[in-house]
Amino acid sequence: CERQNWRPSKQRLLVVANRLPVSAIRKGEDSWSLEISAGGLVSALLGVKEFEAQWIGWAGVNVPDEVGQRALAKALAEKRCVPVFLDEEIVHQYYNGYCNNILWPLFHYLGLPQEDRLATTRSFQSQFDAYKMANQMFADVVYKHYKEGDVIWCHDYHLMFLPECLKKYDSKMKVGWFLHTPFPSSEIHRTLPSRSELLKSVLSADLVGFHTYDYARHFVSACTRILGLEGTPEGVENQGRLTRVAAFPIGIDSERFIRALELPQVQDHVRELKERFAGRKVMLGVDRLDMIKGIPQKILAFEKFLEENADWRDKVVLLQIAVPTRTDVPEYQKLTSQVHEIVGRINGRFGTLTAVPIHHLDRSLDFHALCALYAVTDVALVTSLRDGMNLVSYEFVACQDLKKGVLILSEFAGAAQSLGAGALLVNPWNVTEVAKAIGLALDMSAEEREKRHRHNFLHVTTHTAQDWAETFVSELNDTIVEAQLRTRQ
Ligand code: G6P
Repeated sequence: CERQNWRPSKQRLLVVANRLPVSAIRKGEDSWSLEISAGGLVSALLGVKEFEAQWIGWAGVNVPDEVGQRALAKALAEKRCVPVFLDEEIVHQYYNGYCNNILWPLFHYLGLPQEDRLATTRSFQSQFDAYKMANQMFADVVYKHYKEGDVIWCHDYHLMFLPECLKKYDSKMKVGWFLHTPFPSSEIHRTLPSRSELLKSVLSADLVGFHTYDYARHFVSACTRILGLEGTPEGVENQGRLTRVAAFPIGIDSERFIRALELPQVQDHVRELKERFAGRKVMLGVDRLDMIKGIPQKILAFEKFLEENADWRDKVVLLQIAVPTRTDVPEYQKLTSQVHEIVGRINGRFGTLTAVPIHHLDRSLDFHALCALYAVTDVALVTSLRDGMNLVSYEFVACQDLKKGVLILSEFAGAAQSLGAGALLVNPWNVTEVAKAIGLALDMSAEEREKRHRHNFLHVTTHTAQDWAETFVSELNDTIVEAQLRTRQ
């Protein structure tokens, strides 16, 4: 059959993620408009020249009719994307439910949902069933497009069942799995009713990757403590088969940000922002409006700073960009109201007729406006309660080579391991400590800022997204060759 005779010129990389890197808007019965969203993963893979990447994932829209599905698949094919169609009920149970209400909070140490225990236990099972079903649907689409020699790279907590589903189809498939969130301590993971099934499936992959060494270590401990397997410095041994487990810290396409700062439209934005906030230091937060980002805690720390430093009140402004996300999940709806309430209260307390201390926007900014904002910022506040890596901190550093602003960074973000020496590290739960760090950052000498910035800028410009993707995929190829040699011995 076609599958056996096919010989690629470049190795094909099938990138499987819950979400495709495009947003699709329906324009008519059989017409769609598509916009590529240039997130970290997209930039990473655009820069990898030695593979031919093809994406497989959900387009983020419900397309119940065949005409619409065919038209969308055709439009996506031009962007090298293949859709997985999920109906509304599956999206509700798998994406809103199991992924975003169970795995996401658990992996970020926020625990399992606790409201109505019985109801949760019942719906937990149906959400888990939907999760497995959705993963099988992804596997079916991958297998349909798979050709011998392809490398399959599965991404994130949405697809922990995918490695097992794929290996059941064909045990020779080269499968890697990468987690973009933290992997929590085994004591947290063991509270999950489906703890073992998920671990066993992930272990079907040939290579398992995490952003930090700590997450990799937690995963190996979970496999040894919960599954009783043997952890080795290389990974996890299961009946003579080794699954390689390692850390691969992601980066950004720093050149894209640095180049953007030269563009006239970005410089226009920079001028406008400088005029608008003349005489004030600019502090910036850019986050998805998510519990893990610690937005209420950050704003409360800013309030404490204003409370204790009356002379700064008319000299500093906090711009908080909070991008709405997962808006069908009740926890996220509650968070939005909570943040609005706190911002309103603080602006009422410290605002004047002509100025408010916090500008809060519930929306995303386009790339050029974002670069300009990063460039005019004096102090960036990345104070996630937990975060797999956090690339906002990287993007800020990439745009700061002129200004050399200060990064206040949570010690619970993966980025703290790489940017820790240049940033002011804080415990985001400690509002007093963060308020103090704001004061230190605003008063920091130019010399100290320069020294700290140098360290971070060097890191961000040398550990790029492209390096990350290349390292993972070549390690995956090597892992498979080594495994073949081992079985031949
Ligand atoms: C995190 C996850 C990604 C996810 C993104 C946006 O970064 O690790 O897998 O795509 O959030 O969330 P969303 O639910 O909108 O895809």
